[in-house]
Amino acid sequence: MTDAADDGGGEAISALLHETRQFPAPEAFAKQANAQPGIYEEASADPEAWWAAQAENLTWDRHWDKVLEWDLPFAKWFVGGRINAAYNCVDRHVEAGRGDKVAFHWVGEPEGDNRTITYSDLKDMVCKAANGLVELGVKAGDRIAIYMPMIPEAVVAMLACARLGAPHSVIFGGFSSEALSGRILDSDCRVVITADGGYRRGAASALKPNVDEALERCPDVRSVLVVRRTHQDVAWTEGRDIWWHELVDRQPPEHEAQSFDAEQPLYIMYTSGTTAKPKGILHTTGGYLVHTSTTHRLVFDLKPETDIFWTAADIGWVTGHSYIVYGPLANCATSVMYEGTPDAGGRDRWWKIVEDYKVSILYTAPTTIRTLMKWGEEFPESHDLSSLRLLGSVGEPINPEAWMWYRKYVGRDNCPIVDTWWQTETGGIMISPLPGITATKPGAAMKPLPGIGAAVVDNDGNEVGDGEGGYLVLTDPWPGMLRGIWGDPERYRETYWSRFPGYYFAGDGAKKDEDGDLWLLGRVDDVMNISGHRISTTEIEHALVGHPSVAEAAVVGASDPTTGQAIVAFVTVKGDVVAVGEEGEALVVALREQVAITIGPIAKPRQILLTPELPKTRSGKIMRRLLRDVAEHRELGDVTTLMDPTIVQMLDDQMNAPGAADEA
Ligand code: PRX
Repeated sequence: MTDAADDGGGEAISALLHETRQFPAPEAFAKQANAQPGIYEEASADPEAWWAAQAENLTWDRHWDKVLEWDLPFAKWFVGGRINAAYNCVDRHVEAGRGDKVAFHWVGEPEGDNRTITYSDLKDMVCKAANGLVELGVKAGDRIAIYMPMIPEAVVAMLACARLGAPHSVIFGGFSSEALSGRILDSDCRVVITADGGYRRGAASALKPNVDEALERCPDVRSVLVVRRTHQDVAWTEGRDIWWHELVDRQPPEHEAQSFDAEQPLYIMYTSGTTAKPKGILHTTGGYLVHTSTTHRLVFDLKPETDIFWTAADIGWVTGHSYIVYGPLANCATSVMYEGTPDAGGRDRWWKIVEDYKVSILYTAPTTIRTLMKWGEEFPESHDLSSLRLLGSVGEPINPEAWMWYRKYVGRDNCPIVDTWWQTETGGIMISPLPGITATKPGAAMKPLPGIGAAVVDNDGNEVGDGEGGYLVLTDPWPGMLRGIWGDPERYRETYWSRFPGYYFAGDGAKKDEDGDLWLLGRVDDVMNISGHRISTTEIEHALVGHPSVAEAAVVGASDPTTGQAIVAFVTVKGDVVAVGEEGEALVVALREQVAITIGPIAKPRQILLTPELPKTRSGKIMRRLLRDVAEHRELGDVTTLMDPTIVQMLDDQMNAPGAADEA
């Protein structure tokens, strides 16, 4: 095991061993559930046939010849099939007479700033945007960067790209210009779709200036399409920049969708790995759409005619791609899409949205649940939440306390909770209870979904027994799986398929309890999970050493009661730099800013400790395990292998000194 698994994992396992509560699905829910007992057996009898049956729910221009071609680790699903993702998400519902059905109840952050978008509206918007992109010269295969706030045009932009077979690369609006340019260059995007700004925490924040700055490093970008959202003043580059409303509004609302090969790239989504450079995870069309629509229907028990579905996430992350855009739209769902933060306009904003729109399914991250919990139950209690019938959690392990609070105060002890484990790489949900079937346990993701193979293995790749912990692996190919890392097939093989031959290594620790149910325990590599956002320690170290005063940096993830993990950085400065007193404090401020500029504000360390030296082994390796002990105020582990054991003690004293409070 890596040293990360040694400390964090062990403690988590023993804490979980005491959790024995179980919540069977309510009988009334079970009776009407989309997933009925027998589904697991049916899928495992012939997984390919089972996935093929799910694929029949989509509209294909040409039926596939073969369900799966598996040349480990390279998969092709629905080989020979032809399909258009946007047609499946929009047009076919309109053609089936459901054009008046609401696709999105969009809720802007400023109160009263709402839009209702039907499937017919969405079809017109997507067709116009597709025509606009064609006018800009976009062709199938071209990569398009999308850097936008949570507004309907963001979804429209994604679908317009999908319609043209032009893979989109959505970059979260909270990333800095440097992070943006890195991603634009890596996949050689020639067109960027953005907005003047968006509303966040009660204020208009700018996006276009970040794009302008990023593009100084991206000379090949020829067009920037800008949605007017906040009416801020923006700088304008003639010949390159064009307003969305000037280009798109004048286009005809008809556009004939062409079909593409099932393996046509649909999108690239950058995510942090264990190196400083984020990986461009590639997803393709047919299998991904089958996976997201199937899991959306089964895990969330979606009833398209009556449910109001709300994934409270940003489209800048994979959760938004799969469960705001592709899964729900392929299923003709009515979704709520909310632009802002949970406390914009008051700490009951979310509950107001649930009440106003009669949300029946709510899907969010544990970090948000913990924040809502901290604010107090009086906020959910002051609204009528009786429309809710199912709750979901994603992005990080959910602690039993937060699970119970979610169940009691949001779900009124009456809604099944689905704790869904998956990753950017998996494309869709992989491990989760099925509501109506699974008796849930607070904090357990329970079982691989039908058609999915997962196991927990030890260091040598042997499956562990019930009651034991190890590494989570996926044992079989699945339709939504990543097809590679953009531009780097070797890195794909090396990262995911070499640690345990024949298996996909997820990077997570897991435990099988006495009943064989799965508990996910967090990452076992150098990837941190901060508020459900994936950030690598190396990426932040790289940002810190980019500052002229810094000699060396070591970053660890320390457990945090609200954000799951928090970033703690240990930094040594160059010889002539003063790192004490006011100058030291100013340097810490500058370093946090340096990280915000290089990656984005979400990556700012909670704490930065300036130190004359880092604890190293005699061979010069930084002892991160000890730094994690320091950061988590734990008793220090074995220090005998250290070159100079006094350093770590000194850091520990510094960490525990009065006034060493969190800076974030
Ligand atoms: O460590 C796992 C954690 O989030 C990682 C994937 O992050 P990302 O690619 O950003 O995708 C997040 C949204 C799908 C995983 O390796 N994770 C995700 N869901 C859970 C989880 N950990 C525990 N329980 C979950 N339900």
